[in-house]
Order: sequence, then C-alpha cells, then structure tokens
Amino acid sequence: MKNYKIAVIEGDGIGREVVPEGIGVLEAAGRRFGLSLAWQHFDWSCETYLKTGRMMPADGLDQLRPFDAIFLGAVGYPGVPDHTSLWGLLIPIRRGFRQYVNLRPACLLEGISSPLSGRKAGDIDFVVVRENSEGEYSEIGGRLNRHTENDMAVQETVFTRRAVDRILTYAFELARTRKKHVTSATKSNGIVYTMPFWDERFAAISKQYPDVQADQFHIDILTAHFVAHPDWFDVVVGSNLFGDILSDLGAAVVGSMGLAPSANLNPEREYPSLFEPVHGSAPDIAGKGIANPIAQIWSGAMMLRHLGEEQAAHAVEEAIFKVLASSSVRTRDIGGRASTREVGEVIASEVSSATAISAH
Ligand code: NAI
Ligand code: MG
Repeated sequence: MKNYKIAVIEGDGIGREVVPEGIGVLEAAGRRFGLSLAWQHFDWSCETYLKTGRMMPADGLDQLRPFDAIFLGAVGYPGVPDHTSLWGLLIPIRRGFRQYVNLRPACLLEGISSPLSGRKAGDIDFVVVRENSEGEYSEIGGRLNRHTENDMAVQETVFTRRAVDRILTYAFELARTRKKHVTSATKSNGIVYTMPFWDERFAAISKQYPDVQADQFHIDILTAHFVAHPDWFDVVVGSNLFGDILSDLGAAVVGSMGLAPSANLNPEREYPSLFEPVHGSAPDIAGKGIANPIAQIWSGAMMLRHLGEEQAAHAVEEAIFKVLASSSVRTRDIGGRASTREVGEVIASEVSSATAISAH
C-alpha cells in the first residue's frame, strides 16, 4: 500500500464545504486503488488572521514542507482585505515552494450547457498555463503622499528570462502531449518593455518546438476569441495576471466557476505542489451547503496524477464526467437542486463502484 501525507487547508467560506467532499472522493479512490492518504488539517484562514494577526504561523512553510502535496479550498473573507489574505497565505506558498506553473484546464463536459450558444461537449478543451511566480504580482512598488491630494501608487511588473523561459517551455512540452498548439497572451502594443520581452522569449522557445503550432494574441482580442472561438485553443500561456483573468473566463465558458480545477506545480518536485479550485471562497453562497464541489474534487484528481497515481486520478475524473452526463444530482450553479454533500457522495460512490468504470 502506498502512503501519502497531504496537508489540508480548507480556508474560508465555501472552502470549508467543498474540501470535505474532495477528501471523501479521494478516500474512495484510495480504498479502490490501495492508496493510504493521511490528511493533516491546518486551520489557516481569515478567522485565524482575526484571532492571531497572521493567516499562517511564521513557520508555516516549514510545517508544510514535509508533505507530499497540499490540498487547499479558498482563502478570503469580508472583514479582511483580499490582498492581506492572498499575500498572507497563498502567494507565500506558491513562491516559497517554487510552484511556478499554475495549470488550469477548461473543458466543456457532457451534461453541461455552455453560456455560449451552439457549443457542445468536446468543443471546448484547452488549458491555461499561468506564470505563477512573478509578473504583475510583484512586491516592488509603493505608495506616496497617502491621504493627501498628491496620493499616488506605483507597482512594477517583473519578467525574468529564467521564469519566462521555464513557463513557456512547460507550455510547449504540455502541448506535445495534447493537440500541439500553444497560444501566447500578450499586450506588446501597449506595454512596451515587459510584453515585447515576453514575445521575444516566446519566439525563441517556439523555435525549439517546430512540431508545435505557435501563435499569439493581444489580451484584449484574446478574451474576445475565448468567447467567439473557444475551439481555437489548446494550450494558452500567459503571465500571472493574464493567466488569472483568462482562467476565470475559461471557467465561465465551460459552464461554471464551480467546475474549474487547478494545480500549482513545482515541476522539479523539490517542494510539495498545491491543488485548489480556480474559484474563491464565494461569501455570497457560503454556509448554505449549495456550493459545487466538483472543482475541488477535480483538483484532487490533478493531485493524484501529480503523485503518480494515474489510474486513481482517471477514475475520479471519469466519475465526475459520468455523474455530470447522466445524473440529475447537481448543484444550482449548473441547473440542479442538490447540496454540496449530495454531489460529493454520488461522485464518491461512483468512484467506489469498480464495475461502473473501466480504469486504464
Ligand atoms: P469567487 O470565485 O469566490 O466567486 C465568484 C462567483 O462564483 C460568486 O458568485 C460565487 O458564488 C460563484 N462560485 C464560485 N465558486 C462556486 C462554486 N464552487 N459553486 C457555485 N458557485 C460558485 O470570487 P470572488 O467573489 O471574486 O472572491 C471571493 C473571495 O475569494 C475574495 O475574498 C477573494 O479574494 C477570494 N479568492 C480566493 C481565491 C483563492 O483562494 N485561490 C481565488 C479567487 C478569489
Ligand atoms: Mg483568480
């Protein structure tokens, strides 16, 4: 039996509701495929911040370091500024553990209707590869003359050749395992230093992959193409900010924020990687038991795949696909009436029923 140690951070809002369903489904996969998953919970959240003044303890990264992976819900809640919660927990983990790839698949599934008319399952199947370590989300900048009429703010974007090259390389390698097509998100018409640099590196790296089709669009028209021609895309690579925006749009065109999983990867495996849904803590629906747990469960499948448990990952994904395609048990964001718990349970029991799914 293989043993994995997983750190769990439910965080805030619906994170506390969807993470238990993710764990329930992965436990079912563990029982079926002979994996033992040891979950250790860390109560790091905005509530913790209000009590202690910190989102996580000063030695938080040291505490997480020995784990095989981190399974996170979402952080952020009214009463704590969003930049405090994000920079107090998620960003230090992503950076400290060199999780420089943020992988965010967008796939239109059987049984889900896209808000775009005329799109059916399979028509939309792309993955956003977001640079996760630098870019627009930088700590270089400052405020001057606060609360005077000369009040001002400056924030610098940082693009390093090392980080840009490694994310572009990751995107091209990924495309080789898919439809061999990479699209770069740029804005080199308006942003005259960093984005032309990004384009130069994209051109240089794409030369090393003559078998992969490479194209690029400015971010403004690219968002329009995501809506008008989502079928054009396979792997879409973007900076931290552009990747963030594109992945929420990707989630929307495939039906719901509640369906979009993500992985924050340290591809070299020097540190644990982190798996979380694209969505946030959704305070507007928190506490009602109506959040869709599928994004969290699917993030769990990505975690199993990263751990090398391809069969188990595949079984979890197949169970999600089957339930969406053939069951009326679904949450209201995708047109049903079921609770978070009911959806988690039906997917877990689908994973357990070995006859229903052919693992390969
Ligand atoms: P959000 O993703 O939490 O919610 C956006 C909309 O999508 C809401 O109407 C929400 O009800 C809906 N939604 C999201 N997940 C859903 C699910 N699983 N099932 C059904 N509906 C779902 O984004 P928002 O409102 O911008 O942010 C809320 C809080 O979450 C903020 O504090 C923000 O900073 C934080 N946040 C945290 C993230 C993280 O931990 N990675 C990512 C994004 C936001
Ligand atoms: Mg986001």
